Amino acid sequence: MPIKKVEEEVKKNFKLKKNYQLLKGMKDVLPSEQNYWFFLRDKLDQFVNSYSFDKLDTPIVESCDLYTRSIGGETDIVSKELYRFKDKDGNDICLRPEFSVSVVRAYIEHGMHNLPQPVKLYSLGPVFRYAKPQSGRYRQFNQYNFEVLGSEKPIVDAEVVQLAYSFCTDLGLDVNIQINSIGCKECRKDYLQKLSNFYKHRRSGLCVDCKRRYSKNILRLLDCKQKECSELAQEAPQIVDSLCQDCHQHFIKVLEYLDETEVKYQLNPRLVRGLDYYSRTTFEIFLEGDETAKLNSLGGGGRYDYLVEELGGQATGVIGFALGVERIITELKNQKINIPKKQRVELFIAQLGESAKRKALNLLEKLRKNDFSVSEAFAKESLRAQLEAANKLKARYALIIGQKEVMDETIIIRDMENGIQEIVDYKKVVDEVQKRLERAQEVLKRDTKEDTEEEKTTK
Ligand code: HAM
Repeated sequence: MPIKKVEEEVKKNFKLKKNYQLLKGMKDVLPSEQNYWFFLRDKLDQFVNSYSFDKLDTPIVESCDLYTRSIGGETDIVSKELYRFKDKDGNDICLRPEFSVSVVRAYIEHGMHNLPQPVKLYSLGPVFRYAKPQSGRYRQFNQYNFEVLGSEKPIVDAEVVQLAYSFCTDLGLDVNIQINSIGCKECRKDYLQKLSNFYKHRRSGLCVDCKRRYSKNILRLLDCKQKECSELAQEAPQIVDSLCQDCHQHFIKVLEYLDETEVKYQLNPRLVRGLDYYSRTTFEIFLEGDETAKLNSLGGGGRYDYLVEELGGQATGVIGFALGVERIITELKNQKINIPKKQRVELFIAQLGESAKRKALNLLEKLRKNDFSVSEAFAKESLRAQLEAANKLKARYALIIGQKEVMDETIIIRDMENGIQEIVDYKKVVDEVQKRLERAQEVLKRDTKEDTEEEKTTK
């Protein structure tokens, strides 16, 4: 039975005691789903190589102060969603809710401003937010995070947006970038005043959360998903109209650079993002034309030119973004995008009898060290059961050792496609299977070529 079916059957028929069950908002990644994770990880490796990003690993736990100070005490991520607790020494610590703040901490702590700038870093792994679980919203989820530290230049913004866009489109996802500029500290001051004036007499029409946000974090009123708030936000003054000369120029330049690329983008004057550290460019990645995409962005990011200084470093321009891995996988599945299947097993070792078993263990190691993909069913005794297992795995060749082969120092190579068996010298087994696999590969290539030519002529 395919592994996915087994997993579904077990889920239907077996219930674990309630207090042993998976925690709310958490998720196991089962074997049947792993090919998506491997596929994305391969893509990530290709991207970071071609865009010259270096990898930075930071710990999952950090000091709570670091995050509350950087993201902002009034944001949802800090006020409601932080996994926060005291360790045994009474230190206030949290599970990272995202990567950027840890990356900045590491940049300062390891003196990375001394390196040639900009420093391009990527990170990946789980992040934690204690929000109400719902579709596409987990309490533990994974991000691929990218940061470029040490430049304020608008071309870097365009490069980062292009990277985010190309990562998704290369996977086969049709996406659109929504982009905005939320200006610098100076121009935002004026804008916040305008916003406050606008909402002053309209507060009664806001949702409960936004009534609270009005005095604490008024910018967030603009991207509230509640109907009453989003309708009001349509009429609210737009930040792009309040940008100072420098921020305006910066934003225009970013858009001009993007116009030179293939990136599909759309201005969204209400895109302010849920973390307080941003300045100037902000952007989010949505599926093209998906009405519900507002709830489930595939990724998001922006510039944050004050954070390094606020945390004790020197003034440093930074821009970055993060992709939500689970959300991307959900979309790959929804859109039935073809993911390379697990590599076919090349060789299967079958054994009969005690002395053959001992030899088989050695052979397994020898083949593995020669980089073959090898499988076995050592726990099964009958040859028939073992060959059935080889068939299920779609192994190309079975290598059979019985008592006789042990005595003669030989081994049987069975072609699993046509059942033809050959006896070869055990000492030459590596060369013999290598030769056969190469030949099989050539035949496959030739057949595929012939098929495509035939298709072309029948069209
Ligand atoms: P963010 O928008 O909070 O940004 O998260 C980035 C992405 O993580 C989202 O677009 C979404 O795909 C995914 N995500 C967020 N929350 C959840 C959740 N509860 N369950 C599943 N996926 C989720 C940041 O985290 C910023 N640090 C990005 C950044 C990097 N900005 C500059 N540099």
